[in-house]
Amino acid sequence: MSNSGFKGSWPNYYLAEGEFFKEAIDRQRLAISGYTGEKNRSFEQRFSKSFREISGCEFNIPCSSGSSALALALEACGVGLNDEVIVPACTWIAPTCEVLRVNAKPVVVDIDIRTLCMNLSHVENVITSKTKALLSVNLYGNCPNPAELRQLCDRNDIKLIEDCAQSHGGVANGRKLGSFGDCSVFSFQQSKQITSGEGGAICTSDPIIAAHAHRFKNNSRVLDTKRACEFDVELFDLGPGVGTNAGLSEIQIAMVLDSQTRFKARKISVQTRMNEYSELARKFGVTVPQPDYIDDCHRYCLPLLFNDTSQKNNFLDALRTLGFGSFFAGSIYEPVYKSKKFEPKGQPRFRGLDLVSEDWYEQQCEVAERVHATGAFVHHSVFLNHENITLAGDALHSVFRS
Ligand SMILES: Cc1ncc(COP(=O)(O)O)c(C=O)c1O
Repeated sequence: MSNSGFKGSWPNYYLAEGEFFKEAIDRQRLAISGYTGEKNRSFEQRFSKSFREISGCEFNIPCSSGSSALALALEACGVGLNDEVIVPACTWIAPTCEVLRVNAKPVVVDIDIRTLCMNLSHVENVITSKTKALLSVNLYGNCPNPAELRQLCDRNDIKLIEDCAQSHGGVANGRKLGSFGDCSVFSFQQSKQITSGEGGAICTSDPIIAAHAHRFKNNSRVLDTKRACEFDVELFDLGPGVGTNAGLSEIQIAMVLDSQTRFKARKISVQTRMNEYSELARKFGVTVPQPDYIDDCHRYCLPLLFNDTSQKNNFLDALRTLGFGSFFAGSIYEPVYKSKKFEPKGQPRFRGLDLVSEDWYEQQCEVAERVHATGAFVHHSVFLNHENITLAGDALHSVFRS
């Protein structure tokens, strides 16, 4: 039993020491929409190239959050009014909310206990002539079988959007997570492995989707680096389209670039410690779902499935006593249809639309409900520090001692 209390912190480095961060401050360039000079180009292009290493996509467009990335990705893939988008029952609520924000209808599918991601065998039961896209969330670093997922979407002629907010740097079937979809999205919110506090990215190898996403995020202005030589701005009004401003500031893009470097340096040691902890958990009969087609798994959080709710609660109580706050450990998400957030009829922007059906709250996804009742997560940053893992191990021992 360790004597010391939990010492968690995230991020684990002093931000101002970041190389790109320092450069961004020196350059006095704050945004892609700001003043430039020939030698003061925005970081967007550099990010787009450097993030290929994570997403496996040709075009990587930074934006203000993972949530805005989802809305932009949906719109760039042609999803709009009254289209249906298939989402998993177990996820952070953003993927469901953003489907509603583009005035489309979320259609919920239960998850697979082996992956905690969407159960692909249920998907064709809910596909209709209105289905436009499938939004697959790579929960806690896992993903559905990518080959099956791609075939399923191709067979039914629907777009595949991969939500990689929780699977930075993952590889399945020899390919980067993020490169299987027509489009993928990442989040750089503070809890994520690569972070700038808030932030996100839309990633794709399809130049048309990339052009749409870029335009929509910049109030329908486009980046034109050739013209930028002649003028003192990089964004130009070259075409139609009702967009928004969902840009990420230069300082934040610099933070993402620094954070990406640090992620690369630490990811193997974090993964090794997670694997060791998973082994310990499995010895107690706790399940750590991880499908075998995942070659390289860099989890946002480690999911642990206990045998019943009281075991899970005892584990979380033990962690709380040891000083783990709710940022570092907690219950796995409740099924999205249980969230009281989805009352769009009360919001003026949804007036006249029928996007959430009367029986929304009556849905039942047996696996998602069980996983919420018996599942806990431990944040990736806990695995940066050996003493914290000893403590988390003590919590497991205390649950199974009797
Ligand atoms: C699976 C998933 N998708 C989307 C998001 C939204 O990202 P953001 O918080 O950057 O808007 C999150 C955030 O936690 C997430 O976990």
